[in-house]
Amino acid sequence: MSKISASETPTSDVIVIGLAKVESRDGKKFRPVSSGFKIDEVSLAKALAEIGATGAKDEVLKLPGINQKLLVVTGLGAHAENYSHETLRAAAGAAARSLAGIRKASFSLPHKDSTGFAAIAEGALLGSYSFDRFRGKTKNDQKPPLASIEVQTRFGRERSILRRAEILAKNTHLVRDLINTPPSHLTPITFCEDIRSLAKKLTLKIEITSDSQLKKLGFGGIIGVGQGSANPPRLLHISYQPKGAKKSLAYIGKGITFDTGGLALKPAQGMEAMKSDMSGAAAVCAAILAIAELKLPIRIDAWAPLAENMVSDNATRPSDVIKIYGGKTVEVLNPDAEGRLILADALVRAAEVAKADKKRKFEGLVDVATLTGAQVVALGTRTSAVMTNDESLSKRFLSCAESTGELFWPMPLPEDLRASLDSPVADIANIGERMGGMLVAGLFLRDFVAPETPWLHLDIAGPAYNEKYPHGYTPVGGTGVAVRTLVALAEVTARR
Ligand code: BES
Ligand code: MN
Ligand code: ZN
Repeated sequence: MSKISASETPTSDVIVIGLAKVESRDGKKFRPVSSGFKIDEVSLAKALAEIGATGAKDEVLKLPGINQKLLVVTGLGAHAENYSHETLRAAAGAAARSLAGIRKASFSLPHKDSTGFAAIAEGALLGSYSFDRFRGKTKNDQKPPLASIEVQTRFGRERSILRRAEILAKNTHLVRDLINTPPSHLTPITFCEDIRSLAKKLTLKIEITSDSQLKKLGFGGIIGVGQGSANPPRLLHISYQPKGAKKSLAYIGKGITFDTGGLALKPAQGMEAMKSDMSGAAAVCAAILAIAELKLPIRIDAWAPLAENMVSDNATRPSDVIKIYGGKTVEVLNPDAEGRLILADALVRAAEVAKADKKRKFEGLVDVATLTGAQVVALGTRTSAVMTNDESLSKRFLSCAESTGELFWPMPLPEDLRASLDSPVADIANIGERMGGMLVAGLFLRDFVAPETPWLHLDIAGPAYNEKYPHGYTPVGGTGVAVRTLVALAEVTARR
């Protein structure tokens, strides 16, 4: 991870400033903006016009400096008196990405309070990421991420703000690493071991349920999905129980280490992206690690049902019936709708454990999953969906997302679609009406949550994995989406 510090005046000879779009009567189209970095604006404007600068978001230009070694200009879009924290986060991230190979840079971006300061720190750290674990001879050609970040600020230079940014970035990077790790190297077992070694350092309770135990205990969803693979399934449970916590939340993440579709085999085109089908599991594990390191005063339980959805003579067949933990039966009409099966097991178990804790008020279940292609069709690749049985929990979550800059949008669970999941042979079928497939998946999960238990379902199928080009602080590959908002939800819920 890059180092981070704050300073009132820049001490590096690589300086990052902002460029805003303006429309002024004298024909000016952009304006350099900073947090007090002194520069000859006239000659800078001339140079920027010369190289076609616009100030658009995600435009990063590098100029050889005169007083400094390098001047980096990062686009902020339309000029504003007070830039939104997400604009600052993205602009800092884009600049940081362009500075791979550089030792140190000072970020002088315009902000009016400590929220802006925190956003710049987060963006710069999140943008300083690379994944080269599986490179051989080409490893040395890769430039390492910007090593040291200095944020120029007059606001709240407290160490706590930087520490929070570091913890969020470190754990977001962990999610990205897990997603980017190929399924040849990331199996349910190695996932558990990686997380176990991190959880140990924070003295978290960790419990890993093996395939034979899962079978005995009746986790038919995880077993049914995992039984076609040579890499056996697991249920990972991490518990953070700080002394004096009066509330609790349970986070549940879909952990399919590779989704071939099973006997409903996916076409080769695009299947490679299904190494990202454990993004939800990675996000909830990273979130609890961050929450524990931040010492938030709330009990959190993270659950990661882990399985590989493969094709074999042992794989679940379309029409097989399985029994979810707790006893409900499911007719598996489509083995490619596997995420909801492993989540159903974990939701039932998570609620059981949460309700057994009589000392704390249980504030709800939050599941996170790359659940449906329909989510991507509905909301695109950058906006995640939120479904719920509890409007006030959903509102609280959405306001957390507003503060972290992660894009989430509320989606309904229409009653009329529920009937399409009725099965002629079992309690419920695992697929229903194709139209509105994201909502049907949400309705399926709702069947495994007691109506009085507050519950949120986050479908992150699009945003979890970036297959196109990098932007803002988001690299290509695993993005780490949901971690920041899950941490914020724990912060806000603890304070309530
Ligand atoms: N992991 C996929 C969903 C997915 C698709 C995530 C694209 C990210 C990008 C999930 O297991 C799946 O295959 N869902 C099916 C459900 C269908 C069979 C009802 C889908 O969306 O096609
Ligand atoms: Mn699938
Ligand atoms: Zn899947």
